[in-house]
Amino acid sequence: MRDIDVLLQEHRKFPPSDDFRSHAAITDRSLWDAASADYERYWAGEAARLEWMKPWTQVLDWKPPHAQWFTGGKLNAAANCVDRHVRPSTGSRRNKAAIIWEGEPGDRRTLTYWDLFIEVSKFANVLRQLGVKKGDRVAIYLPMVPEAAIAMLACARIGAIHSVVFGGFAPESLRDRINDAEAKVLITADGGYRRGGIVPLKRSADKALEECPSIEHVVVVRRRAGADGDEAFATMQDGRDHWWHRLMQRAPIACEPEPMDAEDVLYILYTSGTTGKPKGIVHTTGGYLTGCATTMRQVFDLREDDVFFCTADVGWVTGHSYVVYGPLANGATVLMYEGAPDWPEKDRMWDLCERHGATILYTAPTAIRAFMKWGSEWVTKHDLSSLRLLGSVGEPINPEAWIWYQQNVGGGRCPVVDTWWQTETGAIVISPVPGVTETKPGSATQPLPGYFPEILNNDGKPVPVGGGLLTLTKPWPSMLRTIWNDDPRYVETYFSKWTDRPDLYFAGDGARRDDEGYYWLLGRVDDVLNIAGHRIGTMEVESALVEHPSVAEAAVVGKTHDVKGQAITAFVTLREGKTGGHDLREELRDFVAQKIGAIARPDDVLFSADLPKTRSGKIMRRLLRDIAEGRALGDITTLADPNVVAQLKEQYEGSE
Ligand code: WTA
Repeated sequence: MRDIDVLLQEHRKFPPSDDFRSHAAITDRSLWDAASADYERYWAGEAARLEWMKPWTQVLDWKPPHAQWFTGGKLNAAANCVDRHVRPSTGSRRNKAAIIWEGEPGDRRTLTYWDLFIEVSKFANVLRQLGVKKGDRVAIYLPMVPEAAIAMLACARIGAIHSVVFGGFAPESLRDRINDAEAKVLITADGGYRRGGIVPLKRSADKALEECPSIEHVVVVRRRAGADGDEAFATMQDGRDHWWHRLMQRAPIACEPEPMDAEDVLYILYTSGTTGKPKGIVHTTGGYLTGCATTMRQVFDLREDDVFFCTADVGWVTGHSYVVYGPLANGATVLMYEGAPDWPEKDRMWDLCERHGATILYTAPTAIRAFMKWGSEWVTKHDLSSLRLLGSVGEPINPEAWIWYQQNVGGGRCPVVDTWWQTETGAIVISPVPGVTETKPGSATQPLPGYFPEILNNDGKPVPVGGGLLTLTKPWPSMLRTIWNDDPRYVETYFSKWTDRPDLYFAGDGARRDDEGYYWLLGRVDDVLNIAGHRIGTMEVESALVEHPSVAEAAVVGKTHDVKGQAITAFVTLREGKTGGHDLREELRDFVAQKIGAIARPDDVLFSADLPKTRSGKIMRRLLRDIAEGRALGDITTLADPNVVAQLKEQYEGSE
């Protein structure tokens, strides 16, 4: 409620400056008009900017809740992201930087489009030699190194389906994702640099692979300088494990891209839902690439000489759509950074922007709030005059952080685009278009052309002005097609909120629309947390906790956090004879981090004799949230035993 009050009081507006408008590619609303008049035709026009091997016969085949876009058409995503830019007839970007990369220790690599073409083609041949065929799944568990993009594009080139797993995930999370997708090959690295230390990815991978029967081969990128046999970080298993650079030495270059059906699967990306089991979000080729490429141009006003710095890890959808597919499909230059933003000092981001001449920065509110906390002197000591546009993604951005970003990083000169979207939407949906939209701090503003959101109440009634549930009322090209191996869950999660309307996509977010049609995103309305921009299901953390021998029952809620947006608070009841205390609290926090990954480590663990439940036995998370936030308790009339709450509240307040 407090957040809503702050947003309701926000009345500042920032129209595009004349200076920005005079150079911007889009300065009027004709695209919206075209899209509203006939959205299939509009999207077909955007799709036609890609390179197709065979034209489609139908733009949209919509049998709610399943959509197919550009059916009958054939294309290859890697050919669109790479070959097109180096072919003498169509591309003049042969020597243009595709990826400018910097490792955390300061090592640098620049891959031109030609370099990328060679690397992707060779690695595609490596995959083929390892027996990977069209439709096979390949798991990728890498740090932020160019090989991550190369591996993704190499999969796309031969029609293999990649499943990138964030390098911060623990072995069990990796194992579950590999097994769900039945991946044949895993691509990992001996390690990656993070805050001066090494994240031992291969070691984690080995642990995961103890229980992954589908994996036949492991390709290991050597990130650590040193000899091949650096036993400390990578023990190579004979026959199964291969060094990337060794395979590449022998790989031929020539590799024809596989003609893929528009609806062939491009990738699976796992994301958290409301159960303990992550969902494998499925994206297909033609529609996804259309969505990424189009939004990349519109939202970031992309120009030929831009240096686009997206700070997201390739393990998340932002890394897929706006480090790899969106920028490269447009022949842009992306800046990729491996490590932590505060290493070796708290100005690393600004140092990177300055030295590489970044023109567009796309980052998350969590990062912005951390920068604010560290102090603007870290920013202002660098010359950031090359920046011309700033973006935000992943969480609601509070107006204060928005203004700080605009003033301190953008020097009051750069438009700020707050972009709302999801793993499921594949591409940005609600966002300013910087040469057109008047922005309001804290609002993602309005839908891009070709998207039709609406706010509905619980009964499915539209709320033209006011708060409710965010829905998308029409299909869009880059929408998820299903959940891997679980289409019923796809239908149930996204298209069953309003039973008589199987065509309405339920986003899982609450939002308010103001009297000018601006959207103000208010956070998740389901049991999904957003911790520092990362989606984590409460059930995932609860399932991890109850695996600990001391834990009988666990309930996890999000608590407002000034930097991370939300932090995890876990309420735990212990088994007979176990007593909670500082040591067990720390043990449980570590236990969750080891099971899922450090991003899921609870900030607070609170022991309780009992958890508040309804008479039917359902844990009342709402009350736990009230307790965690230190709020007055809401309605407790449905509670089986009201004493439980009173005790918990007393205990929690005493513990702070
Ligand atoms: C949240 C990340 C407010 C939202 C691209 C959504 C946002 C979830 C914004 C998706 C934004 C993302 N304003 N909230 N601009 N962008 N979110 O799948 O709750 O990792 O449902 O995709 O992040 O997270 P995901």
